[in-house]
Amino acid sequence: MVRGHKINLRPIRESDLGKMMEWDNDSEIIKYLGKKFLSWDTCVTWFNRVSVNRGHRALAIESEDGRLIGTIELEHIEWRGGRGELSVCIGEKDCWGRGYGSDAVQVFVNFAFHRLHLDQIYLRVYRGNARAIRCYQKVGFRKEGLLKLNGRRAERDDDLVLMSLRREAFRPRLDSHREAM
Ligand SMILES: CC(C)(COP(=O)(O)OP(=O)(O)OC[C@H]1O[C@@H](n2cnc3c(N)ncnc32)[C@H](O)[C@@H]1OP(=O)(O)O)[C@@H](O)C(=O)NCCC(=O)NCCS
Repeated sequence: MVRGHKINLRPIRESDLGKMMEWDNDSEIIKYLGKKFLSWDTCVTWFNRVSVNRGHRALAIESEDGRLIGTIELEHIEWRGGRGELSVCIGEKDCWGRGYGSDAVQVFVNFAFHRLHLDQIYLRVYRGNARAIRCYQKVGFRKEGLLKLNGRRAERDDDLVLMSLRREAFRPRLDSHREAM
């Protein structure tokens, strides 16, 4: 368990998958994150694989009252290169804009730098996703580049911003997390 100010991070349980499928079927979330699971079976397969994949860490985000509100992941972890790609989803939309996302990113990044000993975390975000970009900037991520997209599907035709944060540039809030591993 990793504790933040407003959230706790814990391992994902099989009983969380129903909520995750619900979020994955929400058109607004799909707009920002794409679709993750094609079916219940792919969701269960994802869950079974993630726990044994050394290149992937995924945790559930709980609010202070123990409600499951989202997930946060580090994928494509290159242990030798010391890098990984971050993605985060606050699936409960009534929780958007209340500081949960930036607290989750803050404590997860701190965990990745100081427990997993990674050196750099990067992410991709659609240019139009101003809330997410602001959330990442609050934690210290900086824009590194822009990928111009010419997708086939009009609703996805938003350019992708590449952002990254290096360990030495990360300034954890001193009281930002307490860990009980
Ligand atoms: C992106 C996400 C993780 C952010 O988490 P959150 O809890 O909503 O965000 P926070 O409240 O921590 O921070 C949001 C910041 O963006 C600001 N913001 C909100 N809407 C904004 C907008 N339209 N334009 C600019 N800033 C905006 C807020 O004011 C806040 O900044 P502040 O604290 O300086 O006032 C969450 O909204 C989410 O999961 N969204 C759906 C999926 C998604 O987009 N994931 C990221 C894909 S890369």
